[in-house]
Amino acid sequence: MNFNTLLYTEDQRIAVITINRPDKLNALNHETLTELKQAVLNANSSDAVDVIIITGAGEKAFVAGADIKELSSQDAVRGQQFALYGQEVFSTVENSAKPVIAAVNGFALGGGCELSLACHIRIAAENAKFGQPEVNLGVIPGYGGTQRLARIVGQGRATELILTGDMVDAAEAHRIGLANKTAPAGEALSMAKEMAAKIAGKGQVAVRLSLEALRCVPQMGLREGLATEAALFGLSCGTDDFREGTSAFLEKRKPEFKGS
Ligand code: COA
Repeated sequence: MNFNTLLYTEDQRIAVITINRPDKLNALNHETLTELKQAVLNANSSDAVDVIIITGAGEKAFVAGADIKELSSQDAVRGQQFALYGQEVFSTVENSAKPVIAAVNGFALGGGCELSLACHIRIAAENAKFGQPEVNLGVIPGYGGTQRLARIVGQGRATELILTGDMVDAAEAHRIGLANKTAPAGEALSMAKEMAAKIAGKGQVAVRLSLEALRCVPQMGLREGLATEAALFGLSCGTDDFREGTSAFLEKRKPEFKGS
């Protein structure tokens, strides 16, 4: 699959989407956002893919934010559309039926931090730096940062990061729950692939239904969330993978899931 601003590969049931504008630290312009949405949709419809990884080209940056050149020409009305478009693309990432792992190699700033927040799991290389520096530009996060960062690290920490524009390194990101894991420099992608391979080895219907249930957490109260969990649990009990998984356990063998 060919894109102008992304690299896209599928191998061993893993799609890797690499934002590929290293000379601009992989900043997200309109074309990159459009291609990113297309790549995530393609990976979702590909029978050869179970897990998606998003990363940035080069070692310096995951994504250093929305493209400030494009941003600088916005006015009040077009600015709202600018934010809504980025939000739409990142919601496509968050709503991906297949798990999306961010392999964060370097700067994840502004829209880059927001992109990682829309992914389901974040792995940060030692040289990763996360931040929402929009206040330095006289603007606020617009691609979901005020909402998703607070949901992931809590209101107090999100408030501090967004109001100061400070960056946090990988160790601090891990400490506050922003990064799930840290990796040695240069190894975020290989660690993400290891995790993706582990997930790809499970029953994929169960993986996708688990994601669907988890996605309800910020949207629903506990009563509604538990009811949804029970309904999705019921659905998973009707699958071939469930019969195979439970039979394999009882017969003391490895399950062979078919994803149905
Ligand atoms: N949008 C557009 N271009 C960007 C960019 C962005 N968000 N971030 C970096 N770039 C470009 C720079 O303009 C520069 O391009 P040039 O070589 O044509 O001048 C190139 O990427 C390299 O960046 P540079 O600033 O020279 O690298 P650095 O190592 O000195 O600094 C950062 C790295 C990440 C600290 C710095 O680039 C930065 O602060 N970027 C903006 C981060 C930001 O505010 N993001 C939120 C946007 S809403």
